[in-house]
Amino acid sequence: MSKPVPETRVVHAEFVAGAVDSTQLPPSTHVEVAFAGRSNVGKSSLLNSMMQRKGLCRTSSTPGCTRQLNVFDLRCADGLEVGFVDLPGYGWAKRSKTEKAQWQQMIEGYLKRRAGLRAVCVLVDVRRGVEDEERQLVDFLRLPREASGEGEIILVATKIDKLSVSARKPQLEIVKKAAGVKPVGYSAETGDGREELWSRIRYAVVGKA
Ligand code: GTP
Ligand code: MG
Repeated sequence: MSKPVPETRVVHAEFVAGAVDSTQLPPSTHVEVAFAGRSNVGKSSLLNSMMQRKGLCRTSSTPGCTRQLNVFDLRCADGLEVGFVDLPGYGWAKRSKTEKAQWQQMIEGYLKRRAGLRAVCVLVDVRRGVEDEERQLVDFLRLPREASGEGEIILVATKIDKLSVSARKPQLEIVKKAAGVKPVGYSAETGDGREELWSRIRYAVVGKA
């Protein structure tokens, strides 16, 4: 039998700042991990689940809930300190052209210039997998950046609780094939995948699992 993985306990989590322009954010106090993906994919819910704080990030069943860059600082029981950044989602249909352009500027400005950024979690709904928007985002993330050099991209397939247990593995395989990398399957409802994602994040920010 495999040993149970000890739970990553978050002893401190606080909202630090929110802004539509990354230059208005205070400088990073810790290394940062950003969470990007289509509107409604479950970014804010996943953050709450990772941080063990139910309502710290606002979530909604209506797409377009998060409209600015929101930075959170956290400290884990083992001393790990990291910043999490909840990004507004893309692909939100009701936006005007101007709003879409502003969104792109906001996200790209942050991703290009934030000195503390070490990893970006790209979230896809496990049932939809990787689509054009995610490919464009990953291509963009692979471009050389001004501030923080090489950053890790971690693919996360959300809402796995929406699939039956037997359908999860084959569906995650489909996502993996389309993306070329193994996704972390996640459910913000049950916490499935939480330790795997923490371990990937830990590796990306401090180099050990
Ligand atoms: P934007 O802020 O609009 O970009 O959306 P978001 O990606 O932050 O999504 P959010 O976390 O607000 O969640 C959107 C909806 O999906 C909400 O109704 C959540 O309750 C639901 N949801 C999120 N994660 C899960 C999950 O793991 N399982 C299930 N069943 N529902 C989820
Ligand atoms: Mg959100």
